Amino acid sequence: MNKPNNEIIQSQDGSHTLMSGQFETTYHSTHGAIQESNHVFIKAGLDYLVDIKPDDKPIRIFEMGFGTGLNALLALLWAGKHQRTIIYHSIEAYPIEENTWKSINYPNLLDIEPRRFHHLHEAPWDQICEISPCFHLHKISSPIEELDLNQDIDLVFYDAFGPGTQEELWRPPVLNIATDLIVQDGVLVTYCAQGAFRRHLIALGFDVDRLEGPPGKRQMIRAVKS
Ligand SMILES: C[S@@+](CC[C@H](N)C(=O)[O-])C[C@H]1O[C@@H](n2cnc3c(N)ncnc32)[C@H](O)[C@@H]1O
Repeated sequence: MNKPNNEIIQSQDGSHTLMSGQFETTYHSTHGAIQESNHVFIKAGLDYLVDIKPDDKPIRIFEMGFGTGLNALLALLWAGKHQRTIIYHSIEAYPIEENTWKSINYPNLLDIEPRRFHHLHEAPWDQICEISPCFHLHKISSPIEELDLNQDIDLVFYDAFGPGTQEELWRPPVLNIATDLIVQDGVLVTYCAQGAFRRHLIALGFDVDRLEGPPGKRQMIRAVKS
């Protein structure tokens, strides 16, 4: 049986998100998709990482859930603006359809040419692709449970559907698949602030901070491997 379609919906900052037909939840906060991604992954993640590690080495990111490609797009734009190289590994078990990503309004709202966003989706799976001199994208077509990535990672964007939908992705043994990749002093950020998830991260050797969340969400988590 075919999986049910995703439906494009508009979040409160005007940016699109998807209602997943398969998982019956949204890909981002309905309070604002771009607003949430910027707050959680770019500001609390990338900006923080370069504050604590101010060198000019490439930044190695692993994202759980490529989804719409919004986090990847914001990271691409960040890399260009800051002239820092990013190697971006992103895993996705259920890629969205072409007619869906072609209809998403991020290029319009971010005032960029659509082809820059579409390039992220058109990039081949399971190989490293140079999207720009500063941004190398490796989309991995696999469930995270079967990830085979032998890379050191500085920063994890943990962007799975929430524990209410996919509880198994927020605890060992699946969680360890992502955290094992992270180097000492490396960082994991996520929009989720669930207590059980926080305790798993502490047990895995992370210093965990609960930070103010994006609008509509009280808290988020940033964890540093100690
Ligand atoms: C919250 S959405 C990700 C949003 C995305 N980061 C973005 O910027 O649009 C979660 C994603 O995880 C994917 N996913 C769900 N289960 C998965 C699994 N076991 N392994 C890999 N990806 C999975 C879903 O298809 C979905 O794209």
